[in-house]
Amino acid sequence: MPKLNVEQIRKDFPILSREVKPNVPLVYLDSTATAQKPLSVIEAMNSYYRLSNANIHRGVHTLAEEATALYENARDRIAKFINAKSSKEIIYTRNATEAINLVAYSWGRANIKQGDVIVLTEMEHHSNLVPWQMLAAEKNAKIEIIPVTDDGELDLTVYESILKLSPKIICVTQMSNVLGTINPIQQMAAKAHAVGAMMMVDGAQSVPHFAVDVQTLGADFLAFSAHKMCGPTGIGILWSRQQVLEAMPPFLGGGDMIKRVYLREFKANDLPHKFEAGTPAIAEAIGFGAAVDYLTAVGMDFIHDYEREIIAYAIERLEEVPGIKIYGPKAERKGGIAAFSFGGVHPHDVAQILDSDGVAVRAGHHCAMPLHDRFKLPATTRASFYLYNTKSEVDKLIEGLYKVKKMFG
Ligand code: ALA
Repeated sequence: MPKLNVEQIRKDFPILSREVKPNVPLVYLDSTATAQKPLSVIEAMNSYYRLSNANIHRGVHTLAEEATALYENARDRIAKFINAKSSKEIIYTRNATEAINLVAYSWGRANIKQGDVIVLTEMEHHSNLVPWQMLAAEKNAKIEIIPVTDDGELDLTVYESILKLSPKIICVTQMSNVLGTINPIQQMAAKAHAVGAMMMVDGAQSVPHFAVDVQTLGADFLAFSAHKMCGPTGIGILWSRQQVLEAMPPFLGGGDMIKRVYLREFKANDLPHKFEAGTPAIAEAIGFGAAVDYLTAVGMDFIHDYEREIIAYAIERLEEVPGIKIYGPKAERKGGIAAFSFGGVHPHDVAQILDSDGVAVRAGHHCAMPLHDRFKLPATTRASFYLYNTKSEVDKLIEGLYKVKKMFG
């Protein structure tokens, strides 16, 4: 069976061959915060600015037509990547956060009334909490929470009892950015739909790491960001079914999202443009298209299998280090993320010492404060892995942690 050739892949990412200081190569273990970019993505954006830069949907000149085609072709490839039925279901946003805000603002303000129940989970990161908290405060709606078990999984028994309250929407991440837990979305969505609830899935961590098919996922909304999947910052996607999007009022108003404007009113444009006001992130959309081409060429199943291998190895090695406590489910039940505490040593100290050896990890609450509250932790150190990481980089992390241990006793 063919396997992912990591040494070959590493050559596609220029940044991976840099040193962070003389003779200290970069060991990048922070892809959950943002992934590195292959040359094909950098070149696609560069080439757009060098050769085709023009505004889209506005001109008949050659460059405008070229830019529009590049922007729209990228949308078509992103639609294919998640198996959307049509490119009309692919809304460009600034990031996954904006995509969730779009749903909370547009669908939420049209559908949530006083006393309605919105369901969130204890493992959401702030983007899938705060927009719903804002909506609930405005509408006087109720928030119910699916708790996280000690093993870092959603407590589905509590979910079952919350469903008896006839919630309007369930907002859940497909993969936790701290615990790495992969949630059973299909099963949860079937139960949500049985009580008439909608399902908002935060795919910021899942879509980059394994194949997500929106026609079988069961979600009503899916949000994700390019920058966590080898694409540029500043662009993300909201996916929903055409029928759902057609029924939603526009989010931001301005150019491009209109069909006709009068002095006192407007007629909204067709999908997907109805939700894309103003000049969009054109180069970024083109870069996003190149990123999905890159991931598709490598193969999402290969990426997923490889990450499983790396996380299993990382967890095995981390467990050897006295004082390390890893949060979340066992390796076989999670994605390539290991968040841990290290006795009384503050995660910022851990990250700083690791950085002196070129090892980049994230320390803090990872935009998931309530989850850290759940485990009574102010912060964790998080190592996260992607298709370009190697087992020898895991070894570097472990060496660095022994150094931390030596310094802090
Ligand atoms: N959600 C991003 C992270 O986990 C920012 O680092």
